[in-house]
Amino acid sequence: PTSTSRSSARAEFVVVANRLPVDLERSADGTQRWTQSPGGLVSALEPFLRSRKGAWVGWPGVPDVEVDEFSDEGLVLHPVTLTSEDVRDYYEGFSNATLWPLYHDVVARPVFDRGWWESYVRVNRRFAEASAAVAGEGATVWVQDYQLQLVPSMLRELRPDLRIGFFLHIPFPPVELFMQLPWRAEIVRGLIGADLVGFHRPGGAQNFLWLARQLIGLEPSRGSVGVRSRPGMVQVGDRTVRVGAFPISIDAAGLDSLARSKAVQERAAQVRRDLGNPKVVLLGVDRLDYTKGIDLRLAAFHELLQEGRVEPKDVTFIQLATPSRERVEHYQQMRSEIEQMVGRINGEFARVGHPAVHYLHQSVDRAELAAFFSAADVMVVTPLRDGMNLVCKEYVACRHDLGGALVLSEFAGAAAELSSAFLVNPHDLDGVKNALEQAITLDPAEGRRRMRALRRQVLTHDVDRWARSFLEALGTEAAT
Ligand code: ADP
Ligand code: F6P
Repeated sequence: PTSTSRSSARAEFVVVANRLPVDLERSADGTQRWTQSPGGLVSALEPFLRSRKGAWVGWPGVPDVEVDEFSDEGLVLHPVTLTSEDVRDYYEGFSNATLWPLYHDVVARPVFDRGWWESYVRVNRRFAEASAAVAGEGATVWVQDYQLQLVPSMLRELRPDLRIGFFLHIPFPPVELFMQLPWRAEIVRGLIGADLVGFHRPGGAQNFLWLARQLIGLEPSRGSVGVRSRPGMVQVGDRTVRVGAFPISIDAAGLDSLARSKAVQERAAQVRRDLGNPKVVLLGVDRLDYTKGIDLRLAAFHELLQEGRVEPKDVTFIQLATPSRERVEHYQQMRSEIEQMVGRINGEFARVGHPAVHYLHQSVDRAELAAFFSAADVMVVTPLRDGMNLVCKEYVACRHDLGGALVLSEFAGAAAELSSAFLVNPHDLDGVKNALEQAITLDPAEGRRRMRALRRQVLTHDVDRWARSFLEALGTEAAT
C-alpha cells in the first residue's frame, strides 16, 4: 500500500475473502511490509475492485496481529484477525486439509476433524460480523471461495437488507465425493443464504442444485445451466436464489501491454541468454500444490530425456513454484518429492553451468513473470484438477507475437475454453510425453494458428467480463 489512512464510511460494494489482496510480511528485525498475496483469486479480483473503489474484508496473512482498517489507493481494506489456533484449525485444517482435497477429486485423502469444523464455523461467523459492520444499507457483498461457505447465510441473518453473492474459485466436486463430508448439509445451507451462487463450470452449478434437493429438501429448477446464461433457480422461503456458471479470467489487456513493453521484451531475451540460448524453453508456473501435477510434468520430461527424444543441450525446463501452505503435511511431502525429482534429473542430464531443470521455489513480480512467459516456447500446465487455472490464460495474453505453445490438462476448468491448446490427460504419462514432444517440434505456422485462436478467446473473455456477468446476474448497481 502506498497510502494509509483511516476511513469509517460504510461501503456500497464489499468483497469478502479469506485473504486481503496484500499480505503482511514481518522480518526477523521487526520491520514489516505489505506484499501481494498469492493465488488466482487475488490476481483476478484486485484489478477489478481497484477500479470500483470498493472495500475488502480479509485476513492479513499472519496470525495474531491486530491491524486497523486502512485505505490503499482507493481500496479500503478491513483486516480480520486470525489467531494461531484459527490458522491451524480453520485455514490449514478444515480449509486446506479437508475441503481443498475433497473438492479436488480427493487427489489426497481429506481429513475429517470435528475440532477443525468448529473452528471453521467460528471463523466464518467472525468474517460475517466484520462484513456486516462494513457494508452500507442495501450494499452488495461478494463472498469468495471455499474458506467462507457459511458466510452467506450468517450474513443474511445479520443483515437481511444486503444483496449477497458467492463465488467458488475451486472446482465443486461430484456429488458422490461431496456426500463424504460429515457437514455437507450445513455447507449447502450456508451457501444458499446468497442471492447468487456462482461456479466456474455448469457442472458445478448442477451438482449444487442436486444437493440442495437431496440434502435440504428444496425444489430447484431442472433445466440445464449455461455458461453466463440460464442460471438454475431455487425458492427459499420468499427469496429466489440463482445458481450459475461464470468462468473467471485475467486482466488480459493489461498483461498484453505489459508483455509488449521494451523492458519485458529485453528481460525475456536476457533470460534466454542466461540459459545459454537453448533451442527450446519449457516453463511451469504454479503455487507449489499437489493438485498442480508438477511431479507428473517432471516425470514426463525425465522420460523424454532418458529415451533420447529430447536433447539436454537443446531443451531446458524452468519451474517457478510459489511457496504455499507450507505447514500442511501433503504440501511438505509434495515439495520433497519434487525437489528430489529435480535433483535426479539434473544429476543425470545437467552439464556444468547448464542444468536441465531450473527450479525456483520463489514468487516473482508481474513484469518478471511476463518476461518468463514471453521467453518460453512451451508452457506446461498439467493439474490433476483445477477450478480454472489462470496461468495458462496469462501465458496466452503475453504471446502477442503468436509464438509459443500451450500444453494444458483436460482437468483444468480453462480447458473448456482453450481448445486450441495441446490438451492432455495428466494421468496418462505417455500422452503427456507425446504432447510435449509435439509442442517442442511444432511447425511455426501451425503454432501461430493455434495461438491466434487462443488469444481470441482470452482477450475477449477477460476478468472484467467475468465480474460484470456475475454482478449483472446478481442484479446489482455495481455491475456498471
Ligand atoms: P491458484 O489460484 O490455485 O494458485 P491460478 O493458476 O488460478 O492458481 O492462479 C495462480 C496465480 O498466481 C496466477 O496469477 C500466477 O501468475 C500467480 N503465480 C503462480 N506462481 C507464481 C510465481 N512463482 N511467481 C509469481 N506469481 C505466480
Ligand atoms: O482459489 C484458490 C485459492 O485457494 C484462493 O482462495 C487463495 O487465496 C489462493 O488460492 C492461494 O492460497 P492461500 O490463500 O491458501 O495461500
